Amino acid sequence: QTFFAKQNSLKGKKALVTAGPTYEAIDPVRFIGNHSSGKMGIAIAEELQRRGAEVTLVYGPVSASVKNNGIHCISVTSAEEMYQACSAVNYDIAVMAAAVADYTPVKVSDKKIKKSDGVLNLTLKRTKDILASLGSTKRNEQTLVGFALETDNEKESALRKLKEKNADLIVLNSLRDEGAGFGHDTNKATFYFRDGCQKSLSLKSKAALATDLVDTITEMIK
Ligand code: CTP
Ligand code: CA
Repeated sequence: QTFFAKQNSLKGKKALVTAGPTYEAIDPVRFIGNHSSGKMGIAIAEELQRRGAEVTLVYGPVSASVKNNGIHCISVTSAEEMYQACSAVNYDIAVMAAAVADYTPVKVSDKKIKKSDGVLNLTLKRTKDILASLGSTKRNEQTLVGFALETDNEKESALRKLKEKNADLIVLNSLRDEGAGFGHDTNKATFYFRDGCQKSLSLKSKAALATDLVDTITEMIK
């Protein structure tokens, strides 16, 4: 493919990408959250935009910045806010790269909780699963991509998420390999498709993985 053809291959398509962690407030100064730099989701949003898609990026509290100002950016803090923002977006392609908190405090204290000796008991409830929610209302012409981060039973868990959340593709990020995962600029990923196919990629930069992923999505929607 020539550069020009690739550049316009997603023209007219609407894309939704989530990135970064979510923070679930405990009190005015404390929160529960996940590790996530947001770099993977931002790289995907930028790559989709480079191919001509109209991109909405919903991102939690990230340290990384978005270079491409043609992207419609929506900044959120909590899982509930991320869910609400995503629910309002009309998309052809959605890529859920955020590390959404799975639990949030049942009650947020409006005053700072003072520390005292001993344990602090917090009651947590489940957050809404954004990927599963989009999957449950997905139309035939929409393409939905999720990520999976596992420490064990990687393949089984990735395939279960693919099926249960009604995604078209799951990108499994391996934490096992040297140089992959948190705090690194490289990822070791495997793509799992609904027809049972899988594709293992070599260790590569998040930007290169974003390119491969968007190439794959472009092939899928043809
Ligand atoms: N996800 C989401 N909303 C949530 C939780 C997860 O959209 N509330 C999405 C993530 O963005 C990712 C996929 O679901 O694309 C898988 O996330 P992961 O944390 O690996 O799996 P979970 O289903 O949350 O299960 P667990 O954490 O127990 O492995
Ligand atoms: Ca999770």
